[in-house]
Amino acid sequence: MQRRAVWLQAISVAQCEAIDFSSAMAQIALITGITGQDGSYLAEFLLAKGYQVHGVVRRSSTMNRGRIDHLQHANPSHPETSKFVLHYGDMTDSGGLNRLVKTVRPDEIYNLAAQSHVQISFDQPEYTGDADGLGTTRLLEAIRTMGLPTRFYQASTSEMFGLTPPPQSESTPFHPRSPYAVAKLYAHWMTVNYREAHHLFACSGILFNHESPRRGENFVTRKVTRGIAQILAGKLDKLRMGNLDPKRDWGHARDYVEAMWMMLQQDEPDDYVIATGVTRSVKDFVDTAFGLVGLDPAKYVVSDPAYMRPAEVHELRGDPSKAQRELGWKAETSFDTLVREMLENDMKLEGVDPTHHLIGAAKS
Ligand code: NAP
Ligand code: GDD
Repeated sequence: MQRRAVWLQAISVAQCEAIDFSSAMAQIALITGITGQDGSYLAEFLLAKGYQVHGVVRRSSTMNRGRIDHLQHANPSHPETSKFVLHYGDMTDSGGLNRLVKTVRPDEIYNLAAQSHVQISFDQPEYTGDADGLGTTRLLEAIRTMGLPTRFYQASTSEMFGLTPPPQSESTPFHPRSPYAVAKLYAHWMTVNYREAHHLFACSGILFNHESPRRGENFVTRKVTRGIAQILAGKLDKLRMGNLDPKRDWGHARDYVEAMWMMLQQDEPDDYVIATGVTRSVKDFVDTAFGLVGLDPAKYVVSDPAYMRPAEVHELRGDPSKAQRELGWKAETSFDTLVREMLENDMKLEGVDPTHHLIGAAKS
């Protein structure tokens, strides 16, 4: 109980400054956005590799550490000896980010923090630009001004391609379609610029959509799998959706975080597209998910203009051949396995037994 109480907080800057993290024998990674979908998988991955993992968390009035609670509880509570240390910080606060980089002196920084919802970025364009765009510059500047040999990973996105037709590769021209994509494009070019101008080991991973049971509930895949679980639980009768025509290249987040790490282990920094190479429409996702539980989507899915975007990205399909050739990376999880895993998780969360509803689920 005592240990849990300590770990439900992050350590203060004063505590942090009193500790010499650089004396640790392990490689040190700093992850911004550690409470998010990718941050949680990446932290697990790096801990398993023996890294000391530091994460940046935002102060909020309620704790939102559900995706990383298991990592906090599995690690000793003392900051000097723990393999998993959390710090308060925010991408809009350069002083705090500077102090963090200075005290943690990470070997690798993974910049995953972002206001990552495309539709919400139309409502919060300035904040999205500040956190996602300038926030990246703040971190790059911290590394540069301190003269650290830190390797830097930037979470770039296929949204930067926007209107440019597929297949999209590292040499495809960009045409962003939302404030989110514009902010990310600025961050992408700043990453390239700090590599070219200041010789930082800075990589931009251009990742296509990746999902998991830990996906935020207002992204389309999770909205569908959670909606189905709630329909089965008798809590929902209609699923209100936006445009079902857009196509996305969907992979599994667990596979994609490995590619982030691989980029930082190369001899030279570079940019890589990470994708499956296969595209499906939102309607395909809906049909597959409803089909897996034997329900007819036509009875439940209704169109709601509230979820239509002012400008849409119609089709994303990545060409991951460079990552396959140079990193030896390829997506491992099939689309059907991904949908099934998400459905199973959401059914359990809603108290619905997957063995009764999910076609082909193993009986326990
Ligand atoms: P996510 O689940 O939305 O997580 C975003 C993380 O950023 C959360 O930890 C969030 O903290 C944090 N954050 C947001 N604003 C912040 C701020 N001002 N200061 C500090 N932290 C802040 O996103 P994700 O799916 O894991 O994606 C990770 C990164 O990859 C994002 O940059 C995203 O834009 C990018 N990306 C994602 C995909 C994808 O398909 N998932 C594809 C390409 C690129 P709270 O928990 O406190 O909100
Ligand atoms: N969220 C949402 N909700 N999207 C819907 C809905 C709905 O009810 N109905 C239809 N859609 C459509 C959207 O219009 C979009 O074309 C598609 O479903 C996917 O939407 P999201 O799941 O919100 O993801 P995204 O593609 O806009 O952005 C995600 O992927 C990017 C990489 O391409 C996010 O993770 C971004 O952060 C990431 O950069």
